Amino acid sequence: MSPTTSFVKEIDFSKAELEELIDLSLHFKALKKDGLVHNYLQGYNIALIFEKSSTRTRSAFTVAGQDLGMNVTYLGAGEIQLGKKESVVDTAKVLGSMFDGIEYRGFSQEDVELLAQHAGVPVWNGLTDTWHPTQMIADFMTLKEVFGSLEGLTLVYVGDGRNNMANSLLVTSAILGLHIKIIAPESLQPEEEIVALAKQHQTGGEITITDDLAQVAGADILYTDVWVSMGEAVNFKERIDLLLPYQINQGLLEKTGNPDVIVLHCLPAFHDLNTQIGREIYDQYGYAELEITDEVFQKYSSYIFQEAENRMHSIKAIMYYSLKNR
Ligand code: CP
Ligand code: NVA
Repeated sequence: MSPTTSFVKEIDFSKAELEELIDLSLHFKALKKDGLVHNYLQGYNIALIFEKSSTRTRSAFTVAGQDLGMNVTYLGAGEIQLGKKESVVDTAKVLGSMFDGIEYRGFSQEDVELLAQHAGVPVWNGLTDTWHPTQMIADFMTLKEVFGSLEGLTLVYVGDGRNNMANSLLVTSAILGLHIKIIAPESLQPEEEIVALAKQHQTGGEITITDDLAQVAGADILYTDVWVSMGEAVNFKERIDLLLPYQINQGLLEKTGNPDVIVLHCLPAFHDLNTQIGREIYDQYGYAELEITDEVFQKYSSYIFQEAENRMHSIKAIMYYSLKNR
């Protein structure tokens, strides 16, 4: 099995291959909207391993798998021997002998790559600390729907610039040829190694890494993500103080100078007090909104929820692309 039939990181794919995945996602979305049965992978079995929690990725893999005619088995954190009593390599060999494909959401990128090397079946990265590649196909599919083409777009990511989402948006934009800016305080800017990968795979767009918020000027898309990612052990207060100036709010929108700018967020988002963590932060520190204000979130929510729905159509494309020739 060629390693590229797995989807563990974006840089394993060329611009043309990523574009093919985006177009295939749009095709699957049209099939679904037209009510046309597309159970092309009937009889296949896939396993979904989740070491971290998930709403979108889990639901997307489940519904996508079922629509394609596959049997889907969820293996949640602590429910299998993985990690405690059994290594990643042994788990890969066992699951690979039973399932036709494996989704893995976990902590280290090394683990998902080991799984892919030893399973003998396609492995899809449902998020690690380093990358979130399935999210990328949904995001760029959404941009193609909204703008008609990705050509010449400027995507500006503001916030924690060295998390999985910032890394993935940086390299994927570079591969696809968009202009990408990561705006973050110096201590939260992408690691040199990630920037080097983006430059190595760049196909035309410009790459800007800065702490200067004036650089939002000219953005077509403003993007943000949570300020503390799953599994991060940091002082919440320090992180909030560092990132508050990088919140997406009305003022920042105006700084783009582009009345047609859109806002995306991979979700979940802290934009109001309707979550347990949101309320705890409010009680402790007095902040009711974090990375994005509720005003801005609501204004752009149709795009943000379109992006969320597209997770399902794009994951269908990713699995079909991997499994179609097996
Ligand atoms: N965007 C995303 O990956 O959401 P979940 O954590 O709910 O899967
Ligand atoms: N950076 C976030 C993304 C969630 C989809 C996290 O890893 O928690």
